[in-house]
Formats: sequence, structure tokens, C-alpha cells
Amino acid sequence: EQCDFGLIGLAVMGENLALNVESRGYSVAVYNRTTEKTDEFISGRAAGKKFVGCHTLEDLVKSLKAPRKVMMLVKAGPAVDSIIDQLIPLMDKGDIIIDGGNTLYSDTERRTKYVEEQGLLYSGTGVSGGEEGALKGPSLMPGGSEAAWPELKEIFQAIAAKVGPNDDIPCCEWVGPRGAGHYVKMVHNGIEYGDMQMICEAYFLLKHGIGLTNEELYDVFDEWNRGFLQSYLIEITRDIFSVKDEKTGDFLVDKVLDAAGAKGTGKWMSQLALDLGVPSTLVTTAVYARSLSAVKEARVRASKVLAGPKESYTGDKKQFIEHVRDALYASKIISYAQGFVQLQAAAAEHDWPLNYGDCALLWRGGCIIRAQFLDRIKEAFDADPNLENLLLAPYFTDAIDKAQAGWRNVVTTAATLGVPAPAFAGALAYYDGYRRADLPANLLQSQRDYFGAHTFKRNDMEGTFHAEWLKLRKEPKA
Ligand code: 6PG
Repeated sequence: EQCDFGLIGLAVMGENLALNVESRGYSVAVYNRTTEKTDEFISGRAAGKKFVGCHTLEDLVKSLKAPRKVMMLVKAGPAVDSIIDQLIPLMDKGDIIIDGGNTLYSDTERRTKYVEEQGLLYSGTGVSGGEEGALKGPSLMPGGSEAAWPELKEIFQAIAAKVGPNDDIPCCEWVGPRGAGHYVKMVHNGIEYGDMQMICEAYFLLKHGIGLTNEELYDVFDEWNRGFLQSYLIEITRDIFSVKDEKTGDFLVDKVLDAAGAKGTGKWMSQLALDLGVPSTLVTTAVYARSLSAVKEARVRASKVLAGPKESYTGDKKQFIEHVRDALYASKIISYAQGFVQLQAAAAEHDWPLNYGDCALLWRGGCIIRAQFLDRIKEAFDADPNLENLLLAPYFTDAIDKAQAGWRNVVTTAATLGVPAPAFAGALAYYDGYRRADLPANLLQSQRDYFGAHTFKRNDMEGTFHAEWLKLRKEPKA
């Protein structure tokens, strides 16, 4: 009997996703480059279930029903191209190759065209939710060949996380052609970077600003997770503050080296924002904060040389905690606003008909950035599909306004105490820049025209102008 679904790559994400598909009543054929891994899976976690272990890609393709659906969960990069090239001669017209990795969207653009030219269908699908999400219900962001979606829809929506009052709305909808799915996943990851950085800033301010202990931090995050900040990342952060190290009995978080790694999706989003000319400052700040953390030894040396303020916090502690919560919420809104602006710019550039309300829905459950407030984002884009900036949706205009006094106090306090809060401060700078009808770029354009004759436009007449600044200037004092 032939299987409903094929999966390549039995690392933990692959295994878990395969188990998820099987648990919804589908039979699954699996293949891993290292044969032992396949055998181990079949006799282990897959034992007694509707799985077929395959030792070659040929076997895998042969054991599938048409149109065949083969999903790769392998390391993004050349391995994907290599598998595609091996699959193409084995598959038939209408069969579908799916890439569920964190692939750079431009690779997916290229591969979709390439695979379609061979008569097959291709889907670059963003998969989020970590190990547990893969097993129990990830968020899925499918893009690629449009003709693939009707074939994939049933299985994908069956395995995806569910949200809504009756837990029946799947976090999986068709995103758009070619690389759109992977682009949306990349923006998800960039937002994830921002969320994590902002939570870390909140932690550092509460720890070093007002001296909260891990027990107290646990309570603060527990409370935040019951309100408008409710989200997966706040929840796991709360949990982290309760975990004791098995070796020493101390809190484990205090034993973890403060040097962050990164696999690249945040950097991509930041690079692509620069290419598009859109200010996605939060993800960029988050990437740089990781870079600065990574030079631990240099920081240890500098800490012995460079001085900061000696101030300590004198205000009301309880109120400061509320202000940090406000700073976190307001900055988070800015971060999402920037992410959606980047999506809009990318959609325009690549001709992807993205539905932003759907994007918010996909991120409502299953994924790492899942949060209650994504319901509000969905509502905002449902009410106005062409919403220029999330900040202009009445709900968010109001939320930021309510939070801004606390937010400003936190940024001021961080500067006074010498505690770094680049995301909170940068988000505020974006807000203050975006909400101003005037910015100092009149001076900037004057400078460019002065030294380089770059020309300028005027606010009182049409046309392009150049001035002889040097001739017209006041003679400086000798
Ligand atoms: C997810 C995650 C997942 C992973 C990323 C980010 O959505 O499940 O985003 O894809 O955590 O690779 O990882 P880095 O922090 O290592 O860049």
C-alpha cells in the first residue's frame, strides 16, 4: 500500500513532523541520508505506526501515492539543491517537492522556477514551533507553486496548530507564490529576534536597575503572561527563572554564558530591509546585540577600563516594573509594525499578493512568536487590508499612547543607570521619528548638496535645485 506523505531528513524536526502527520491518520514514508537513522526511527519512535522506512530516494518516491508529496527537512543550502536534483528524474508531472527548512527566500524563488520547468510543483514552506510545535502542531507558511496548495492543504491544515474559540482555525494558509512563504517565515524569525531581545532588556533592567531576584522575576513574568503581553516567549522566560542547575543547585540561567549565537535568519531580514530601504530597526538592533554579546572576552577586558554612571534607582519599584511592561509592549508593537512594513515592501517588489491578516493568523498559534495580541493585528488588517502602518490602527495608536509615558521613563532610566536597552530606545526613536511631520533631513540634504552637488527638492516649489552654498555662506571668523 502506498503512503500519503514522504519526508526526507530525520533530525529532530523531521522525526517530529513525520510523527505529527502520521498521528492525523496519514501513512508516511521516510528517508534519511544515513540509513541507520531511518532504521532506528522505524524500530523506535515509529514502531507500530503507519510508517515505511526507505533506504533510497527511489524507494521513497515509489512508496508514495500520486500526486506525490515529498517534504525535505534538511539543513538549508546546497543539500536542498542536491536532493531536488536527485528527486526530479524519479518524480512525475504534478508531484510536489516541499522545503520546510529556514531557507533564504531567493533560493526558493529560484528553485520554484527550476522545479516547475521540470514539470513538477514546488513549495517553500516556513515551519515554526521548534521540536514541540513540529510534533503537536506547528505554524506553517506555505508558498511556491500555486497548483501545489490544493494538494497540500488537507494534510498541512490537519497537522498545523489550531486557534480560535473552538480551537479549529489552523495556523496554516497559502501565503503566496515562489519565495513568499519563506520570506514570511524569515520575518517571523526577525520578529522572534526582536521579541527575545526586548524581553532580555526587560530582564536586565529589572535585575540591575531594581535588583529583582530570579524568584521575583518569575512572578513578574507570570503576571505579564496573564495580561496583554501573554505569549509563548514570555511564558518560557517565566519558566526559565524557576529552573535550578542539577550540578550546583543554583539557578541555571545564572550559569549560562552570556554570549549569543545566531543561525542567520535575523541577519537576512536586516540585510533585506536595507536593500528595500525600509527601517526594520528592531531586528537589526537585535542582531547587533547578539554580536556585542558574542565578544565576551573583549567585554570583560573593557569592563575593567570603561566607566559608567554610579547612579542607582531611587523611584518606586512597583511602578518601574509597570513601566518596563509598558516599554516592552510598546516596543513590541513597533517591532511588528516594522515587520509588516517590510513584508509590504517585499510583496510590492516581488509581486506577491500577501494577505497580512492571514500572516497574523498564521503566527497566532504554533510558532515561537505566538501571542495573544496577534488577534488584534489580524483585526487591524482585516479592517483595512492596505493599512500603511500598524501604528495607525486605532487599537495600536491607543495602546502606544497609553504606554508611552512608562516607556519614556524606562529609556531615560536605562540611560541614567548605564544599563543597555538598545531595542527599547531604538523603538522609541522610530516612534518619535515616524510620528513627526518634520525631520532634520532638510539639513542633511543641504549638507549633501553643499559638498557633493547632490541637489535637493524644496518644500515651497516644484523642481530639483542646487545652491552655491560656499559662495552664499557667511564668511567665517578668521
Ligand atoms: C522557529 C524558530 C526556528 C529557530 C531559528 C532561529 O520558528 O521554530 O525560529 O526556526 O529557532 O533557526 O534560530 P537562531 O536564533 O539560531 O538564528
